[in-house]
Amino acid sequence: MSNTERTYIMIKPDGVQRGLVGKIIARFEERGFKIVALKMAHPTEDHLRKHYADLANKPFFPGLVKYMASGPVIAIVFEGLDAVKTGRAMLGATNPLASPIGSIRGDFALAVGRNICHGSDSVESANKEIDLWFPEGITSWKSVYEGWLY
Ligand code: TYD
Repeated sequence: MSNTERTYIMIKPDGVQRGLVGKIIARFEERGFKIVALKMAHPTEDHLRKHYADLANKPFFPGLVKYMASGPVIAIVFEGLDAVKTGRAMLGATNPLASPIGSIRGDFALAVGRNICHGSDSVESANKEIDLWFPEGITSWKSVYEGWLY
């Protein structure tokens, strides 16, 4: 855990189509996380198969890849203290119905197959996902507010 831990957050096609991009980004910014990379991308099925490689044997995998390739996503890297674990807590559970009210999935989603936002589940997967989605590299910058966060 460090002030510069990074997590990969992705607003999925349903989150983009439903106009939730600003609200989701605002939650991370308001919590104190710093954006160090952000772009819109329309991923190919091949790219998504790499992103979700760990789930390749699951029965829902083909449907997951199709849904994720159905429209543009917003790819973001947030940096801050305990970013991975805190990002997961802010998302809620995989199934929105099991997610606490106040979490992103608990407030904005109903179905596991349309859960609007992805967040890395470990520092190791965050690093892999950041390399996969931002092969061009990411920005590092110092916020003038950091002394008030840490
Ligand atoms: P997973 O990595 O297990 O969850 P999380 O996104 O919370 O890290 O699964 C990846 C995505 O796969 C999940 O966000 C939604 C989808 N999914 C299904 O469609 N059905 C399922 O039964 C599960 C477990 C996941």
